[in-house]
Amino acid sequence: MWLHVYCTRAARGRACSPAGFSDTLSRIRHQRARLPVSSTFRDDFVIDSRDYEEFSRFLSECCGLVLGDSRQYLVSSRLSRLLDEFGYKSVPELLHAMRQAPNPRLRTRVIDAMTTNETSWFRDGFPFEILRHVLLPERAEKGAGIKVWSSGCSSGQEAYSISMVVSEWEESRPRRVVPVSIMGTDLSEKILDDARRAVYDGLSIVRGLSEARRARFFETVAEGHRVRPEIQRRCRFQKLNLIDSYAALGKFDIVFCRNVLIYFSAETKRQVLDGIARQMNPGGYLFLGASETAGPYTQAFETVRTEYGSVLRLKG
Ligand SMILES: C[S@@+](CC[C@H](N)C(=O)[O-])C[C@H]1O[C@@H](n2cnc3c(N)ncnc32)[C@H](O)[C@@H]1O
Repeated sequence: MWLHVYCTRAARGRACSPAGFSDTLSRIRHQRARLPVSSTFRDDFVIDSRDYEEFSRFLSECCGLVLGDSRQYLVSSRLSRLLDEFGYKSVPELLHAMRQAPNPRLRTRVIDAMTTNETSWFRDGFPFEILRHVLLPERAEKGAGIKVWSSGCSSGQEAYSISMVVSEWEESRPRRVVPVSIMGTDLSEKILDDARRAVYDGLSIVRGLSEARRARFFETVAEGHRVRPEIQRRCRFQKLNLIDSYAALGKFDIVFCRNVLIYFSAETKRQVLDGIARQMNPGGYLFLGASETAGPYTQAFETVRTEYGSVLRLKG
């Protein structure tokens, strides 16, 4: 029996996308289930332990990502498509090609394939409440502009959510507004293109957005729902690998680095957190993901509790 699957463009999340579906099938195959599926990808490809180790080392060196021990199914599924597309017969051949004659397109495609870009609007809620009710008013009191960094911004939902909060805050504030700029950075070029396009399909538009915000901050276009220009104008997007230097970005008052550190080793977490601390203005604030902490890796931050939840502040 053949199972034919059609994934619509509307399915932005990996679980529903063709890539996500293929990952899931590989996992099922690993669990010895028998489910023949018609696919344009090689469905017999499984990376062996030695190649997996070598590939993991490559990924950790070039972008800090740690694959862990049990993700062979995922790597096999994602790499099989690239092996087909670029005409390589094995993972060592692919790694050799990337190391010998740097091919930026191939390297970009491999990294894009291995990043997890899961995101949503106003993810976890409380950071945006703290931003709105505590940080923006406090920073505005100082009178200067406010610079925000959405680090590991994925397809832009985090940066645009911040910009929406700023618009709502400005409206409620009778006194002079201060300029707010938002820099979104990510490792994946493909996902940054999506962020710059600022057009979202019917599924991703409902993840975390109230109806009121959907109506207010989006316009309907042929391809989906586009973030309105007044929200886009505060945001810029730039490619940045967090294991490289980011001194050229300048200094920020508020940093979101949410659900990014979880993919790194302890040593990379320490380097990234210290690097972020160096890019912050005195008294700057840092939001990490709900399952992430800074304490074991750096002493640069202290926890500040607010009635909306906790945030980290640069010490000193
Ligand atoms: C799970 S998403 C989180 C998106 C958003 N911050 C959120 O919380 O919804 C993680 C993002 O980090 C990016 N990323 C992973 N490794 C990175 C690195 N070395 N440098 C910069 N970005 C990286 C991925 O491309 C991905 O878009």
